[in-house]
Amino acid sequence: MTVNKVYSLSEIKEMLLLEEEEAFALYEEANSLTEKLFGKSIFVRGIIEFSNVCAKNCLYCGIRRGNKNVKRYHIGKEDLKKIIMDAHNDNFKTIVLQSGEVDVYDNDITEVIEYVKSKCDIAITLSMGEKSREQYIEWKNAGADRYLLRIETTNRKLFENLHPDDDFDNRLKSLMTLKELGYEVGTGVMIGLPKQTEEDLASDILFFKENDFDMLGVGPFIPHNETPLRNIKSVNMSMVLNFLSAMRLVTYDTNIPATTSMATLDKEGREKALNAGANVIMPNYTPQKYRESYKLYDNKICTKEDAEHTMEFTKKTVERAGKVLVLERGDRRR
Ligand code: 5AD
Ligand code: SF4
Repeated sequence: MTVNKVYSLSEIKEMLLLEEEEAFALYEEANSLTEKLFGKSIFVRGIIEFSNVCAKNCLYCGIRRGNKNVKRYHIGKEDLKKIIMDAHNDNFKTIVLQSGEVDVYDNDITEVIEYVKSKCDIAITLSMGEKSREQYIEWKNAGADRYLLRIETTNRKLFENLHPDDDFDNRLKSLMTLKELGYEVGTGVMIGLPKQTEEDLASDILFFKENDFDMLGVGPFIPHNETPLRNIKSVNMSMVLNFLSAMRLVTYDTNIPATTSMATLDKEGREKALNAGANVIMPNYTPQKYRESYKLYDNKICTKEDAEHTMEFTKKTVERAGKVLVLERGDRRR
C-alpha cells in the first residue's frame, strides 16, 4: 500500500460509484489501512446531549426551532457535572458535550469544564455550534480539548439552501479559528442531502484532506417527519460505506467514528463501518429520560436504553465487528 497516496477528485468520485465486489474490495483496502495504523483498536467516546434548545432552523434537523412538537430540555450544570463524572467512573476517557445552538448556557459550560478537569483526566469535546472567537478561547482556557463542527456540505449553494440562519464563510472561519486556537478539530458532512451530487461528496473528502482536520464524523441524511425535508429518501448504506472508505484512504490517519445515524439506516451499520475504515465508536451517554427529545431524525436508535449500560453494549458491538474496544483518550496520532 502506498503511504499517504494523493487522490484526485475524479479518483475519489470513482470510489464513490463502486458497486458490489469492487466496493467490497474498497472496504477491505480501507480496513487494512485502518488496521495498519491502529491495529484492531477502536476508541470510544460517550456523547452527552445536554440540551435540545436551538435558535436555528436548519431544514433537515428534527430539533430545529420551527418544530413546535419537541419537548425542550436542558440539563443544568450540577446535573451535567454528575453525568460526566458517572461517564468517567464507567471508564470513558473522552466525552462529547453536544447541544442545539443557543448562547445562554455558554458560561455554565465553562464552569463544567473547569470542574471536571480539576477532578479527573477525561478529554472534553464540545459540539455546540458556531460561537465567537472569544467564547472558543474561554472554553479552551477552561480545559476543553476538542471541538466538533460539521460543515454539513462543502457545496456553498446547497449549504445556504439548508441553513437559513448560517453563512458558509462564517462556518469556514469558525473551523479555522478552532484550529488556530489549538483544538483538535472535527468536521463532517451528511451523505444523501437533496440535490447533492457525487462530485459534491468527492469535494467534501478533498476539503477534509486539504484542511487536515483531526476527526471526521459523517453519516447519512435521514428525514425527520416534522421538517421540510420529510419526503426526501435516505441513501443506501453502500454509499455511506463507499464514502467512509474513500475518506479513510484519502485522509489517512484521521479519527473516524461509526455514528448513530449509520446504525439507524442499517441495523448493522456500525459493525459495517468498523470494517470499512472507522476506528472510533461514539455511543450515546445521555440519560434515558431525555433521549426521546433529542431526535435529529426519525427512528433514531437507543432511545429506550439507559446510559449505565452504554459501555457494555458498545463493547459487544465492537466485538461483533471483530475489533477490540480500547479505553484510551484516542488523541489524533500522526
Ligand atoms: N439526518 C442525519 N443527520 C442529521 N443531523 C442533523 N439532522 C440530521 C438528519 N436529519 C446531523 C448534522 C449535525 C449533527 C449533530 O447531526 O450533521 O451536525
Ligand atoms: Fe440546531 Fe444543530 Fe439542528 Fe441546526 S443542526 S437546527 S443548529 S441542533
